[in-house]
Amino acid sequence: MRLIVLAASLASAAAGLLLTHHVDAQEEPEPGGQELFEMWCADCHDPGPGHPGTLRMEGDFGVENSVLREMQAVNRPLIHLAVRRGFAMMPPFRPTEISDEELERIASYILEEGE
Ligand code: HEC
Repeated sequence: MRLIVLAASLASAAAGLLLTHHVDAQEEPEPGGQELFEMWCADCHDPGPGHPGTLRMEGDFGVENSVLREMQAVNRPLIHLAVRRGFAMMPPFRPTEISDEELERIASYILEEGE
């Protein structure tokens, strides 16, 4: 009997969580790839001076391969690796900061594969 009560209250707690989540999602639309890129990556990877990622990549690969969004050699696995593991001076990002879904959107934006 106790177990049934417990299970019932757990189920309603879970339903409550689902409900709140649903309401949240409706109030705040999920940020798109561009917005996420600007939030997490642009400070270091935008074109022009003052962006350490761009600067380092210019040193490593030449000026024509320094802007992340314009690079031909960048692909989805490399973006995953750099973001989750970090890359030279670039810090890694945890899934609590950038979720897997958000990472996919960022990658699509960088690779210009739509969203
Ligand atoms: C604090 C600065 C910083 C931030 C923020 C940052 N990066 Fe980086 N990133 C770097 C640096 C520095 C490198 C290494 C360049 C080098 O040494 O060649 C790099 C390298 C990379 C590379 C490897 C490129 C290559 O081919 O070598 C990828 C991919 C990348 N970053 C993606 C991202 C993405 C996506 C984000 C946002 C989620 C991001 N970075 C945020 C600084 C940063």
